[in-house]
Amino acid sequence: MPQKPLPSILPAASAAPRHVAIIMDGNGRWAEARGLPRGEGHRRGVEALRRTVGAAGELGIAILTIFSFSAENWSRPQAEIRDLMGLLRLFIRNDLADLHRNNVRVMVIGERDDLAPDIRALVEEAEELTKGNTGLTVIVAFNYGSRQEIARAARALAVEVHAGRLEPKAITADQLGARLDTAALPDPDLIIRTSGEQRLSNFLLWQGAYSELVFVPIYWPDFDRAALEAAIDEYHRRERRFGGLVAHTGS
Ligand code: FPP
Repeated sequence: MPQKPLPSILPAASAAPRHVAIIMDGNGRWAEARGLPRGEGHRRGVEALRRTVGAAGELGIAILTIFSFSAENWSRPQAEIRDLMGLLRLFIRNDLADLHRNNVRVMVIGERDDLAPDIRALVEEAEELTKGNTGLTVIVAFNYGSRQEIARAARALAVEVHAGRLEPKAITADQLGARLDTAALPDPDLIIRTSGEQRLSNFLLWQGAYSELVFVPIYWPDFDRAALEAAIDEYHRRERRFGGLVAHTGS
């Protein structure tokens, strides 16, 4: 059975993309270019994140996924890891009430077992408090790596096969997708990466199979509503074919 997203679920050409995912890259270079410590770049990155969450809601985006800490970021110096963990704590503590008031739902994807217990508790609190919200959904990819996520899903399938609940030949792409952290979420329509780098770096490799990729030549701390709108304009100029022949222009 061919499996592909159905064009009928696509939004109208002029509508905002339903799901936008962002690789927030360039905090360190932003800081280094100004003779500032890298941590200052990350702090300014959080301000850019606040602006972007506000703009995404105003523009009618339904889901915003942000790459906040990759499974590979553990190889950074301890001090920088502490900074990034501290920023997640601060972001949840300081911004959660505001996000909740603005009807934003917060979800976190990635491997939680390696996180400090207080961070796990904050993540759970954020998800629990906002689970009934119906506005923008913000998905924070934290300690996230796409290959690790796919391996976890494969392991879950293997357990079911081992228990005799699933026939190996019955395994489909949909079933694997249903065991990813993003199960039940639509795939991203648009993936944006800032800083001029042009790669996915282990972010949403499965979910991004048909996403439009837009690479923006500015560092993340400089990202704002205008940059988001420009990326969405670029997305609308693309033709999406989902492996078929019929173009779905600007959707
Ligand atoms: C990439 O810049 C960015 C990160 C590794 C982390 C992104 C984090 C934030 C925007 C702030 C934290 C937000 C939350 C919610 C925790 P880089 O350091 O790789 O920059 P470089 O490539 O210029 O060195």
